[in-house]
Parts: sequence; structure tokens; C-alpha cells
Amino acid sequence: MRVLVIGGGGREHALCLALRRDPAVSALFCAPGNPGIAQVADLLPDGPPVALARQAEADLVVIGPEAPLVEGAADDLRAAGFAVFGPSAAAAAIEGSKAFAKDVMEAAGVPTAGYAVCADPAELRAALDLLGSPYVVKHDELAAGKGVVVTDDRAVAERHAAGHRVVVEQFLDGPEVSLFCVTDGSAVVPLLPAQDFKRVGDDDTGPNTGGMGAYAPLPWAPADLVDDVVKTIVTPVVAELARRGAPFSGLLYAGLALTEAGPMVIEFNARFGDPETQVVLPLLETPLAGLLQAAALGRLADHPPLQWRPAAAVTVVVASDGYPGTPRIGDEITGLDAAAEVDGVTVVHAGTARDGGGRLVTSGGRVLAVTSVAADLADARQSAYTAIDRIGIRGGHHRRDIADRAARGMIAVPG
Ligand code: AMP
Ligand code: GLY
Repeated sequence: MRVLVIGGGGREHALCLALRRDPAVSALFCAPGNPGIAQVADLLPDGPPVALARQAEADLVVIGPEAPLVEGAADDLRAAGFAVFGPSAAAAAIEGSKAFAKDVMEAAGVPTAGYAVCADPAELRAALDLLGSPYVVKHDELAAGKGVVVTDDRAVAERHAAGHRVVVEQFLDGPEVSLFCVTDGSAVVPLLPAQDFKRVGDDDTGPNTGGMGAYAPLPWAPADLVDDVVKTIVTPVVAELARRGAPFSGLLYAGLALTEAGPMVIEFNARFGDPETQVVLPLLETPLAGLLQAAALGRLADHPPLQWRPAAAVTVVVASDGYPGTPRIGDEITGLDAAAEVDGVTVVHAGTARDGGGRLVTSGGRVLAVTSVAADLADARQSAYTAIDRIGIRGGHHRRDIADRAARGMIAVPG
């Protein structure tokens, strides 16, 4: 099977590493890729998805990021006859428009935070009064995880909304879970649940980011969590999208809060999460290309049950100076070879590039996702941080507490 991956961040590097392990993959391409992906796939210069798929003679195209999905890349590829893992623009609107997502959830009877869509300051004031503090204010557009503020400070909430159409939500209290589900529009195959760390600072302080680290599996999660979420949340949403004539084929990512009233949806995404993919895929023993192809061809119901490694994975993101504000780019990255020598560690490239002299430099906010697989979370944490301590980036920063509370048994599900 010839596979083309579209994208060039940490998620796509993790996808390429997992696809490489699938013996059915005879050729692997990625566009635009990055210097880490170049070690496992043939890079193609960026271009229109259909042209790339033709150049790769792809049997399967996997679209990583949300932007091309929302813009209709999967529709274009399907119209040109390619098998695609990724939803149509109409189905990807579940991520592209928070208001659309809320409407689908309401119709499907899926538990989610109460909300109001606000187009002007008067509507905003009424919604903040009604839904109360902590205030949750989200821009109603794609924002790479940075369009959300959660704050007790009403002035901060109002400033965040200024000039945007926003969704104001009820605050959901409880540990967060990311559950990735592969679906072909009717069958649903869940992957292992993971937890992401959204805030930039230790102990969940500072502004939201795209994600500063993740781990899987979740030793504290109730045994029936995945079955329960598939039954009460994901399957009804998949059915509702199909009913609307926008069947979702690809990766439906449910971002959940486990509240006193049970799991509730924070958001849906239309693609693999970043950095959760970096911890979920290394634990998957089932060949990935075969799974994604089964979804792309509408044959997921016939796919055998997934097999998982009995291990734990932790990834810690190293971000550049300034992130999640304006990141400084072009800083040299050192120590990656020494980091990769730590047992169980893989250094996933997110925002890296080669400069004119061939040096590896930072090219974005999230630079690396240092990923470790070990017997348990405590061991995986230790290896990941040992590796990180060998890496040098001027002004680089990372969280020290990824998976710490989980490894120490300190996370409790309310109710
Ligand atoms: P989103 O982009 O919608 O995933 O929001 C980013 C992050 O903001 C989430 O992962 C949560 O940590 C937080 N958040 C979003 N919505 C809520 C909510 N209704 N209640 C509590 N926290 C939220
Ligand atoms: N890790 C959060 C996201 O991918 O949206």
C-alpha cells in the first residue's frame, strides 16, 4: 500500500512512525513534512492535495490537520478517486464551527455544557450573567486550541470576546479525557483514551496552548468509560451527522470532562489530537494503515478488534521562547541524538526546520514532543525527562508535571 500523509507537525510524525511499522505499507510519503518525518517518509513539497496524491500514486491519503479538512481537501481527493482517511468539509464542521457542533450534539441528545452563541456585546453580557463564573469564552472559528479562555475575571472574558463571534459555555468540572474514535460513518472503533495538558505552565497555570504533553492509558479511568462514551456520545453523533447527509469518515476526537453528572463533551475535533497521537499510536499493535484504510473504504465493521501493548506512554512538548504568544523561531536545537539514546524514547518533531547551513532550528511554537514508552507511567515519565534534559533550545520551555498526578494515583473521577 502506498500511503500519503498530509501535514508536517508532531501528529504527522507520530502517524508516519506508526504507518512505517505496518508491513502492508510499501511506500510512505508526507507533504510538507519536517526534518523528523524526513527520516521515515519521502517528503513532497507542499501543493494541492490531489496533485500530491497523484504524484505519490497513493492508495490511501491520510489528512492530519484540521485546516485542509475544513477547506474540503477530503472532498477533492474523493472526487478524484482516492481513498481518504479524513472527513468531508461538511462533516469536519463539527470542529470548524463550535455552534454547529453544539447543534449536532443537541439533536443527538449528547451531554455537553450549556451555551450561548453571542454576536454582540449585549448578548455577551447576558450570556456571562446567565452561565456565570468561571467564564468559558470560545471564538467560533478554528484557533489551534488558543481561541478559548477559562477565567474568573469578567473583564478578561469580555476582552477575549471583543471583535469575535463567540460561544460562551457553562464551566465543566472534572478530569479531561481525549478519546479518539476511528469511524467510517457508521461503525465506531475507539482507540485508548489519553489525557492532554492544555495550559502552558505546571499545575495547569497560564494560558491555553495547543497541548503541552499527554499520556496514555489512563490508570484512573472507570473500566466502562470507553464503552459508555462510545454508546452515549460518539455513536449518536456519528448517526446524527449521517442523518444530516454529512457522514463522518475519519477520526472523530471527543474531548470530554468527567463530571459529577458523567462524561460531558467539551469539544469535538475532526482529526487526531496533538500531542495525544504521540502517546496513543506507539501503544497500538494492530497495523495502522490497514485500520485507516478500512475506515476510508467503509469496511470498518469487518476490521478485527484492536490489539494494544501492555505499556504506558508519556510525551512532553518542548516549546520555543514566547509560546503560546508569538514564538521565536530560528533557534538552534541541540542534543537530539543523545536524547534518542534514552531507552524507550522517540523524539517527535513538531516545529523544526533546517536552516541554510543545515542546522536543525525551531520553526514554530511547539518544537518537539519527547515521547517515551515504558512499563508504567512513572518509568515513562522518568525516561522522557531524562531525554529532555539532554536537549538544548535557547529560551525553550516545557512542563515538568506531565502525567505526574496520574502516576501518583492522585486523579479522582467525581460522583
Ligand atoms: P477547546 O478548544 O474547546 O478544547 O478548549 C480548550 C480547553 O479549555 C479545554 O481542553 C479545557 O481545558 C478548557 N475548556 C473548554 N471548554 C470548557 C468548559 N466548558 N468547561 C471547562 N473547561 C473548558
Ligand atoms: N491536543 C488538543 C488538540 O489536538 O486539539
